[in-house]
Amino acid sequence: MGTPARAILMPVGEPLTYRTYLRIDDLLGCQVPRSEGPVHDEMLFIVAHQAYELWFKLLAHELRGACGAMTRGDAIEACRLLERILRIVRLLAEEVPVIESMRPADFLRFRELLKPASGLQSAGFREVEFLLGREDDAALRFLGEGDPARSRLKATLRWTNLWRAFVALAERADPACAMESGRSAFLRRLYERCEPAPLYETAERLVDLDERVWLWRCHHARMAERMIGGKPGTAASIDPKYGAMGQNGVRYLDGTLSRRLYPELWAVRSALGAPGDGTAR
Ligand code: HEM
Repeated sequence: MGTPARAILMPVGEPLTYRTYLRIDDLLGCQVPRSEGPVHDEMLFIVAHQAYELWFKLLAHELRGACGAMTRGDAIEACRLLERILRIVRLLAEEVPVIESMRPADFLRFRELLKPASGLQSAGFREVEFLLGREDDAALRFLGEGDPARSRLKATLRWTNLWRAFVALAERADPACAMESGRSAFLRRLYERCEPAPLYETAERLVDLDERVWLWRCHHARMAERMIGGKPGTAASIDPKYGAMGQNGVRYLDGTLSRRLYPELWAVRSALGAPGDGTAR
């Protein structure tokens, strides 16, 4: 049996108030600028990143919930959670203009002090990516060897992700979905008939999510370009290979824009309405 949740959450001996329940003192004690003065905009930079990390934490939680619902065969609950996930990702994109209000010259007043730290080292972001469906652990090389997040992220990769959970859900409707060839025929029928509706809606929420994550990536890349133009990213100083490939900074970010989380759900659109299959064009 684990410790009761209340004992974990409450600081011992403190009365229950807004401050103690939400650990406000701990939370508001975490914004520590590195610049002398400090430079005014470093607070914006720190708070924006920390707010993202909290949202990444919630996203991972909700993604686990959605994966669990699909694995149990509960498409209605999966769609409900995917809707919430979509709203959070929309919020993340809306935060970008707040950072864009920083002038490039002001960012340069503290940027050197951040090196070699980089967004590439965000374990929270990787966890979200892995739960969304990315199955490549190459990005883990940016985390330090002793980083405790490494083993957690490897466990997440082994567990499941939205795509594998969706395939498990589809397999309940048609066991042929276990194989990619069987799946493409099934998806084509699903998109022709829009039935079974819960499965079709789940597939479409995944496409919404793919699109919205792409929009965040795009917005983040343009924001980075506004701030640093063609300069190397801060990660160039942690991994010489990353720097030497000439793919760093904004070029790296633009390279991620060709990724699709659920390529099979995009491909089905090209297959629809092909000659001889009797569907409308
Ligand atoms: C002035 C603001 C920012 C600039 C100039 C910027 C720039 C960059 C650059 C150039 C990279 C590529 C890696 C590198 O070369 O270091 C990167 C990666 C990344 N940044 Fe930012 N960034 C900014 C703000 C943010 C914020 C607020 C977040 C929110 C957490 C964030 C999250 C990330 C993540 C997760 C990556 C890795 C993306 C991937 O691997 O696909 N960045 N950023």
